[in-house]
Amino acid sequence: MRKPFIAGNWKMHKTVAEALELADGLRESLADVATMDIAVCPTATALHAVSEALAGSNIGVGAQNMYWEEQGAYTGEIAPPMVKELAQYIIIGHSERREYFGETDETVNAKIKAALAHGLTPIVCIGESLEQNEAGETVSFVRSQIHGAFAGLSASDAQKLVLAYEPIWAIGTGLTATPESANATIRTAIRDVLKALYDEETAEAIRVQYGGSVKPNNMAEFIVMPDIDGALVGGASLTVEAFSGIIKNAVAALNG
Ligand code: PGA
Repeated sequence: MRKPFIAGNWKMHKTVAEALELADGLRESLADVATMDIAVCPTATALHAVSEALAGSNIGVGAQNMYWEEQGAYTGEIAPPMVKELAQYIIIGHSERREYFGETDETVNAKIKAALAHGLTPIVCIGESLEQNEAGETVSFVRSQIHGAFAGLSASDAQKLVLAYEPIWAIGTGLTATPESANATIRTAIRDVLKALYDEETAEAIRVQYGGSVKPNNMAEFIVMPDIDGALVGGASLTVEAFSGIIKNAVAALNG
């Protein structure tokens, strides 16, 4: 059984004071949720404060990016052991990092290996652009991203990953894939490939989140899909009301 997992990606939002206010509010609002994994991913500058504020709670903490080297002359980067001090999760290969900061399948793969070597759980983002979607290239493109991400990983390492399938055209746009089409892509472009690369057990063990304009009012229809195990939430993770609404609606949908 895959435990549902909803994570909030705060992107480049919130000062430390603002991040603490949100973390404190979520801690209180979500204290009763036990059937689902929850995490928030603040900016690097707020990681320390937020990880202290959420210590001992049911809300985990993730970073949004890191480099793969242990340490060294890499101005502006943070290293896996630094993230590990403050977080359990690490978002890798978000489409914004691929688009604006030159991330490739190769850098994503190197970061995944570094994360696993340090006991961090990678949340690896994949998904097609609007052009690819309209050209009917979604499945082949997402498959190629899966091959790139998992290159050189053993089955036992592969099972430690969380994937976030995020059609790029649905991120921050208010548009979403339909739950049925997201589920079909996850099945044919992700789980079928993992089954071929590894085995059925591995393909069925890996949690796959949906991402792209997830809101309190549409979470339920995604979480009930058989291959969707949660969500990676951007804009709607920035207020207590919206993010706790998403989680509570997901819990209710799964209980109902
Ligand atoms: P969004 O972002 O929820 O604002 O569309 C999702 C994401 O980028 O992970």
